[in-house]
Amino acid sequence: MRHLSFSYGTHEVLKDIDLDIYKGDYLAIIGPNGGGKTTLMKLLLGLLTPTAGEIRIFGKSVLEARRQIGYLPQYINFNMDMPINVSDIVLQGRLTPEKLFYSRKDRDIATAKMEQMRIIHLKHRKIRELSGGQRQRVLLARALAKEPRILILDEPTASIDPDGQKEIYALLKSLPQTKIIVSHDIQVLFEGVNRVAHVNKQLYLHDNIDTTFKRKEGHFCEMELLDYIKSHSCSN
Ligand SMILES: Nc1ncnc2c1ncn2[C@@H]1O[C@H](COP(=O)(O)OP(=O)(O)O)[C@@H](O)[C@H]1O
Ligand SMILES: [Mg+2]
Repeated sequence: MRHLSFSYGTHEVLKDIDLDIYKGDYLAIIGPNGGGKTTLMKLLLGLLTPTAGEIRIFGKSVLEARRQIGYLPQYINFNMDMPINVSDIVLQGRLTPEKLFYSRKDRDIATAKMEQMRIIHLKHRKIRELSGGQRQRVLLARALAKEPRILILDEPTASIDPDGQKEIYALLKSLPQTKIIVSHDIQVLFEGVNRVAHVNKQLYLHDNIDTTFKRKEGHFCEMELLDYIKSHSCSN
């Protein structure tokens, strides 16, 4: 991203953002509610167009690179009355505009992703019958069924109980893709990320978080971390 800015009408939400993301990165994007995190992800996905500046992904435009990105949106409106089951939802990850039918290979990939996300035993269940954590793992399996090179996860653990959160973080950590995870919860920094960006209209990057934040007996000191983030935050 180079000199990226975005406004909704006259409301400037992101200002002059420069960021490089490298292959294999696990980047956490943290910041307050309304800071522009979701907007930044939508720009990466080509769902919004920058007011100024540009984004290149694998040297291409975001629209050309879109197929290489798996996305877990922050809000999903499921029609809970729909008779669709877990395996149907995961299979949707194999859909492309040209494709009308699922092949044997599509079904095999969907099965493999359900196994990987530990939801294979739920494959005939309806979405309304699942817990929040199980639902998120279904959506992760759907994103993975696309076989993306990049995963974008917008608040994947919000409204999930602590055990469910641990499980999602452990699964994410095991995935080899380049990952961008958005959270307003700094717990994410303790879950295996290698870089952190703080977004509140402007972006502050903290490379190499092991040395940026002091470790005490192998753990980050949460208070120092909060102070650090606060002192680097945008004042307006
Ligand atoms: N569709 C929209 N139209 C107008 N303003 C919006 C829209 N979506 C978000 N905003 C505003 O943009 C700002 C950033 O929102 P968002 O990117 O969702 O922040 P975050 O994900 O960090 O909570 C907020 O002030 C929000 O109210
Ligand atoms: Mg958001």
